[in-house]
Amino acid sequence: MISSTLLVLLLIPTVLGWGKEGHYVVCKITQEYLSEDALFAVKQLLPDSAHGDLAALCSWPDEIRFHYQYCRDCHDSDGRKHKGTFVLVTFCWGCTSAPTCWFYRRPRWKLDNSSLAIQRNITDIWSNDVSIWEHCAHNYTACPYWYASESVSLACKFAYRNTTPGSTLKDEYFLSRLPIMEKRLAQGGVRLAAILNRIFTSKTGIAQA
Ligand SMILES: *[C@@H]1O[C@H](CO)[C@@H](O)[C@H](O)[C@H]1NC(C)=O
Ligand SMILES: *[C@@H]1O[C@H](CO)[C@@H](O)[C@H](O)[C@H]1NC(C)=O
Ligand SMILES: *[C@@H]1O[C@H](CO)[C@@H](O)[C@H](O)[C@H]1NC(C)=O
Repeated sequence: MISSTLLVLLLIPTVLGWGKEGHYVVCKITQEYLSEDALFAVKQLLPDSAHGDLAALCSWPDEIRFHYQYCRDCHDSDGRKHKGTFVLVTFCWGCTSAPTCWFYRRPRWKLDNSSLAIQRNITDIWSNDVSIWEHCAHNYTACPYWYASESVSLACKFAYRNTTPGSTLKDEYFLSRLPIMEKRLAQGGVRLAAILNRIFTSKTGIAQA
């Protein structure tokens, strides 16, 4: 039962469409904010191959979804080609056989550096926001509903705004959206930690970094 709960939680970020690297960063952040009890429980559930690192497993849904038709359709899908320090990304939206696609070429992320930089900002500039991000008490609607609603709103306001389907997006596109994306990764990490802490400890909220 507990392991299926964890599985469902691990799938949540996929719904938000981070992709493999985003999931890794979210889980790196999450692990830093787990309470002692939650960290213990998570480590018990991880396979040996993860070496106690939650992030090692967080991209699993990205890997399996290409094997299942229902996972591929009706979802932001992306294809990546790695070329040196750049990644060519195609992202498509739509449930039809002719989805709308965009393309862009972005620098390859230094994933551990990104997680650390985001964690620094959680401590330095977003510390007052953390309790709002993780808040989900006395609320009769499932928390991920709100998180997904935020994503939909941001997708319309920023991700798909002023983009022409079929076009190749430039650095200007990527760089102007990057701060929003980094904040969403921070929120994802904090929220997943808060959820796991709620499940595995009597204490609520994230552990102090
Ligand atoms: C990224 O991390 C490496 C090793 O941890 C470090 O040497 C490097 O300076 C970092 N780069 C940035 C841009 O922070
Ligand atoms: C951290 O915050 C600073 C100041 O707002 C911003 O310039 C920077 O891009 C942020 N970095 C990350 C990784 O969120
Ligand atoms: C539930 O939580 C969300 C986000 O924290 C908030 O916007 C919403 O107003 C809350 N709903 C209720 C009924 O408290």
